Amino acid sequence: MADFFTEFWRALYFVISPYAANAFPPLAKGKRPIDFGKNFIDGKRILGDGKTWEGLFSGLAFGTLCGNVAWIFYDELNSMALNHGFSLPYISPLFAFLLSLGALVGDMIGSFIKRRLGMKRGEPAPFLDQLDFLFGALIFGSFITEITLGMVVWSVIMTLIMHRMANIIGYLAKVKKEPW
Ligand code: CTP
Ligand code: MG
Repeated sequence: MADFFTEFWRALYFVISPYAANAFPPLAKGKRPIDFGKNFIDGKRILGDGKTWEGLFSGLAFGTLCGNVAWIFYDELNSMALNHGFSLPYISPLFAFLLSLGALVGDMIGSFIKRRLGMKRGEPAPFLDQLDFLFGALIFGSFITEITLGMVVWSVIMTLIMHRMANIIGYLAKVKKEPW
């Protein structure tokens, strides 16, 4: 059980790049769709207007940047972890880039699935909307570092809670109409 709780810190360190990569694109106000406005063989958009090149590149840049900041503090943070009998996953600058890419590819796969199901851009798909980027990052991450079950469980919990909180704050700040 003690191991399960230390996994929280490993998950928290792991999600820095993916979170940054996923949070930035909406701010980019992109106009150029990644699918170039083209349809898939089913006659529906491949990805839709919600996935843009501007969002992709700015997300990659910001995710990599934030991962690099976390990397600068790796030795310091990891020695604290070692004092408590565990270690943090090592995320080099290259790994930070790959985790960001994983997050953005996961988000694109989420949109690809929504379009195949006939869902419009922005139409809510519970869990898929919140977790697609995270699973993309976890899958890419599994090729570069050890991803434990505890990290998966904690990162899913964190992401669902963060998403709820962000929506409630958006509602209180009157940026969003509904608190979900
Ligand atoms: N965004 C972008 N490029 C990306 C990812 C996101 O420009 N590669 C921007 C878009 O403005 C998008 C917003 O971030 O509307 C929020 O992203 P998301 O919720 O993933 O897209 P949705 O608009 O909800 O579209 P979808 O139904 O495809 O999920
Ligand atoms: Mg959405």
